[in-house]
Amino acid sequence: MSASDEADPPGPVPRESPATIRSPGAGDGAPVSEFRRRKLEEDAQKNWDLFYKRNTTNFYKDRHWTTREFAELKACREFEAQRLVLLEAGCGVGNCIFPLLEEDLNIFVYACDFSPRAVDFVKQNPLFSTERCLAFQCDLTKDDLKASVPSETVDVVTLIFVLSAIHPDKMKQALENIYQVLKPGGVVLFRDYGLHDHAMLRFKPGNKLAENFYARQDGTRSFFFSREFLENLFRQVGYEPVVNEYVQRETVNKKEGLCVPRVFLQSKFRRPMK
Ligand SMILES: C[S@@+](CC[C@H](N)C(=O)[O-])C[C@H]1O[C@@H](n2cnc3c(N)ncnc32)[C@H](O)[C@@H]1O
Repeated sequence: MSASDEADPPGPVPRESPATIRSPGAGDGAPVSEFRRRKLEEDAQKNWDLFYKRNTTNFYKDRHWTTREFAELKACREFEAQRLVLLEAGCGVGNCIFPLLEEDLNIFVYACDFSPRAVDFVKQNPLFSTERCLAFQCDLTKDDLKASVPSETVDVVTLIFVLSAIHPDKMKQALENIYQVLKPGGVVLFRDYGLHDHAMLRFKPGNKLAENFYARQDGTRSFFFSREFLENLFRQVGYEPVVNEYVQRETVNKKEGLCVPRVFLQSKFRRPMK
């Protein structure tokens, strides 16, 4: 994983769905032992916390919101002066929320992450203010979000490269948890790795944990989503799909002199009105 893996704006939609491209069997080979699989799951929080200990706030680039994304947020307001309530689920060190807080003054952000260290970095950011932001540690798969966020009060949830870090068997729990705090009619804005993204294809044999799920050297893990898998997952919880598209772009790896194809999945799901 490199800092540029996840920080890029979307490009055009690919003509061929990545789900239809033949899998080259990335990272296949000797199966990962049951012991290692279990250990990675048990240590998931520790491994993310160590990730932030090593990288502090230097790993991800700030995710600057585009005009289109701002227009989308604006469309979530019922009236112009409405203070929008946002939950950044799996906020990391705040690369997504701080550019937003800077630009949109009429917004309140709940920000939570698995890693206590990441949450501390959020609180130490000079743009952090308790009037506009509440940051807390939380495992989305088991800690009830309602302990920090009142039920059905959130207009928009951002889930940016977070679901991929969660074991596929537990993704549904995370989405159910989010559903409880989302207002009826509220939306989840999702962006994450798409199936056959370069990050998936470059896994070496022996790192595949399950179908489309891989372990990195540092013990963090990553899932690669097909549109169908994601839509089915959200539908099972009760969300309605609004948008669910692959976006494809190329990133240049100057060090290796390579231009690599990237595949992301960018989606929007709504909690239906009652
Ligand atoms: C790739 S980072 C993305 C961070 C941030 N969303 C961004 O866009 O910069 C994935 C984040 O998900 C968090 N995470 C992983 N599993 C989680 C879980 N079960 N509950 C809450 N956060 C989790 C990690 O601690 C990490 O900060």
